[in-house]
Amino acid sequence: MTNQNGWTKSSWKNYTALQQPNWPDQTALEKVTKDLALLPPLVFAGEIRTLKDLLAKASKGDAFLLQGGDCSEDFSQITAPTIRETMKVLLQMAVVMAYAGGKPAIKVGRIAGQFAKPRSSDTETVNGVELPSYRGDMVNKSEFSINARTPNPKYMLKGYYLAASTLNLLRAFTRGGFAALQRVQAWNQEFVAQSPMGRSYDRLAKQIDQAIKFMNTIGITTDIPQINQTQIFTSHEALLLPYEEALTRIDSTTGDWYDCSAHMLWIGERTRQVDGAHVEFLRGVLNPIGVKIGPDYDIDDIKQLIEILNPANEPGRLTLITRMGCDIIEKKLPPLLREARKEGYHIVWNCDPMHANTYTSESGHKTRDFNDILKEITRFFEIHWAEGTIPGGVHLEMTGKNVTECVGGARNIVSEELHNRYDTTCDPRLNAEQSLEVAFQIADMIKR
Ligand code: PEP
Ligand code: CO
Repeated sequence: MTNQNGWTKSSWKNYTALQQPNWPDQTALEKVTKDLALLPPLVFAGEIRTLKDLLAKASKGDAFLLQGGDCSEDFSQITAPTIRETMKVLLQMAVVMAYAGGKPAIKVGRIAGQFAKPRSSDTETVNGVELPSYRGDMVNKSEFSINARTPNPKYMLKGYYLAASTLNLLRAFTRGGFAALQRVQAWNQEFVAQSPMGRSYDRLAKQIDQAIKFMNTIGITTDIPQINQTQIFTSHEALLLPYEEALTRIDSTTGDWYDCSAHMLWIGERTRQVDGAHVEFLRGVLNPIGVKIGPDYDIDDIKQLIEILNPANEPGRLTLITRMGCDIIEKKLPPLLREARKEGYHIVWNCDPMHANTYTSESGHKTRDFNDILKEITRFFEIHWAEGTIPGGVHLEMTGKNVTECVGGARNIVSEELHNRYDTTCDPRLNAEQSLEVAFQIADMIKR
């Protein structure tokens, strides 16, 4: 079945798809995608439309997008405590932004499906042995052996089921009272509570508590969904196109196509070719779409991408996730904003302060400096203010756990400490305390 301009959920196959694993067994791949296509959708079209409406608000400055989670979710870490801690810190950050920043935060996790990674090289060589690169748990395993590194399509099925159980827990937590504003204090984790950030958070939580008690005192009911419930949306990089195709369904109420593997999908910096398979695939589904843009972008290329992905210029459809680097954002972001403003494009401008600020520390760990991250965010805001455009969101690699992967922050993690709790299988993440610190800084900027 085709929709506009010859698009079908398989039309991407007529284009070049970069960053795909070399699946050794095509028959096994086909079997898995057939099985996936029969399984229920993970998210529903109505929820996707709700997110798009919220993002339309962010594009106008009436809400702020908070997108965050692991660089790459690790199958072995999909446990109730890990999911709960990540959710807690997202809730904390959102409440800081809403209460101290005065703007509702749209919570979108890099969660429940962020299992596939683009890599700079197809293979990795260690001590003269060359093996396929690790491409995320939905493709192969990170361990350096031929067995572990051989892509196995069955991991896509496992990824589907783990995404489903993650979503199940997120839905239970967000609807079942855990996320109620009466519990804001309880979201503060022990290791954060003792820190400067934890104490600032505690003060804010007490004020919210008092406000709710006051409402009760004067007879305003607080037993309402706005206080008792929340919604966390899911997102991941739409990298493995056979998986995304298998989860793409027609919405029976509207007859439109949605990729039901997550609410929001994004195209990475390495796969956003205007004539590439990823762009072809995502142009045809109605989800909100993100596109990563690094400092080497070509302006005409970006304009073509915008026209292909959002031909109707629908607000909320397109989020551009800029990842320029803290030192060159001042040179690279303004021309993009000016051109978009001139053309009247509706865009959610989202700042990824992580991916262009990565370096290897003396200890040999891939890391990021908290100050660089904050610098890129601050400059992002300042540039938007100067250009008269709207800073719409932030895109972070973060976790609810007490990891030591990024240096700096209030506790000033130093390079020698990185090995203590360096748990990521891919890029370094902000820990819960560093994430909260970012949220306070952002709140200061969004309240202007
Ligand atoms: C990522 O978000 O983990 C990633 C690989 O980003 P980018 O496409 O911006 O390099
Ligand atoms: Co990453």
